[in-house]
Amino acid sequence: MTATLSEPAAVGEVPTFDVTLRIRRFTPETHGDEAYWQEFTIQAHGTDRLLDALHKAKWDVDGSLSFRRSCAHGVCGSDAMRINGRNRLACKTLLKDLDPEKPITVEPIKGLPVIKDLIVDMEPFFASYREIMPFLVSESQKPTKERLQSAEQRERFDDTTKCILCAACTSSCPVFWTDGQYFGPAAIVNAHRFIFDSRDDAGAQRLEILNDKEGVWRCRTIFNCTEACPRGIEVTKAIQEVKRAMVTRAY
Ligand code: SF4
Ligand code: F3S
Ligand code: FES
Repeated sequence: MTATLSEPAAVGEVPTFDVTLRIRRFTPETHGDEAYWQEFTIQAHGTDRLLDALHKAKWDVDGSLSFRRSCAHGVCGSDAMRINGRNRLACKTLLKDLDPEKPITVEPIKGLPVIKDLIVDMEPFFASYREIMPFLVSESQKPTKERLQSAEQRERFDDTTKCILCAACTSSCPVFWTDGQYFGPAAIVNAHRFIFDSRDDAGAQRLEILNDKEGVWRCRTIFNCTEACPRGIEVTKAIQEVKRAMVTRAY
């Protein structure tokens, strides 16, 4: 089905156009265990995001269509999906940037079990995240006031603090697709955030965890993760820095 532009809008009216979403659905309760494609043609405005279009499809056409979202502003990380073959956040993707003249394909992110439609089981992803100890560990005496850090010390891990745990990186990595055992870029990014924090004392422990056969050495520097990150984090660079720290023990 091809999307077509609607009639020009009357003065004062916001112009709309038809857009077709081609959504990969998985609804075992009604369609068995095979995923299938369903098309929804809906009316959209020029400034709409893909999330708005999904809402229209759900609210106006088929209430059983399922996807995760919460903040709608690129903060919570819950609506990562594969849009025209690329991992992105639905709430940060404008329809006008997707060539709405053609059907837009929407699929769940890859490498994690699909529960329903665009909703995947995030547990394997969060299990790896928990393993790298994503919290500050301090063995020194409790300070009487805040732990100070210089601007340079903070700069060292500033980029990796921006992660919103959306899984767009990990689920775009071909190494993760092969067996899902690889820790994945998101876990390494979050390890990086603490390894290079001057206030933290568990860097060596985290490096040991990632020295596993499913750890950083499985990264083949493919860069899909960096391209997919909606926060613009230099994911591959962070992974390289963790690898270097593992060899030099300098961090
Ligand atoms: Fe998402 Fe980027 Fe964090 Fe990966 S590094 S989980 S893509 S925010
Ligand atoms: Fe995968 Fe990113 Fe490494 S895509 S192989 S984690 S550079
Ligand atoms: Fe929160 Fe998109 S809905 S990041």
